[in-house]
Amino acid sequence: MKIIIATSNLDKVREFQRILEGFKVELSPAPYSVRVSETGRDFIENAILKARAYYREFKMPVLSDDSGLEVDAIGKAPGIFSARFSEDGSYRSNIERLLGQIKNIPEDRLKARFVCAVCLIDDREIIHVAQETCEGYVIKELRGNSGFGYDPIFYYPELKRTFGELSPEEKDTVSHRGKALRKLFLAIPLEE
Ligand code: IMP
Repeated sequence: MKIIIATSNLDKVREFQRILEGFKVELSPAPYSVRVSETGRDFIENAILKARAYYREFKMPVLSDDSGLEVDAIGKAPGIFSARFSEDGSYRSNIERLLGQIKNIPEDRLKARFVCAVCLIDDREIIHVAQETCEGYVIKELRGNSGFGYDPIFYYPELKRTFGELSPEEKDTVSHRGKALRKLFLAIPLEE
């Protein structure tokens, strides 16, 4: 099945392509980006809004993702606002704003998780949705140059490293996005 990816975030596109390499799908980035108002109340609603907007525009199967980081000690912020957490929305200022908000909280109380909802509208216009999480802690210093977004401050206890210190393959195996995409595509029959 030929599928376009409903995002303009190239870091996400790279991860989608890596994670779905072994599946019988032909993924390509959308020809141009479509403005979507992310007015959903949670990750799943926003993933569906994105997929529907791209499907309306391109009239072919689309795959979307809505994801973010939840830090329990600050009311699960930034959550669905992860991409737009700071004024300029750059990865660096988003991290700085988050570090500012948690500066008085001890690190052992900084339990956090990445969440990823994915939505596929297939060639029969059927909507498939899956959501997964990856549990860890936020740390107060940046570690590692791999990945994107909040990866350098997301510590994954099982591998004793931040996502910024993992190889792409290691991240895909345990990440919210890796798990959500595999769950979704393992559940649907794909033709040759
Ligand atoms: P979205 O485009 O509205 O889904 O925003 C997702 C935002 O959440 C990204 O811009 C990142 O800031 C953050 N995020 C989502 N997934 C990851 C990840 O795998 N690593 C680091 N940050 C992530």
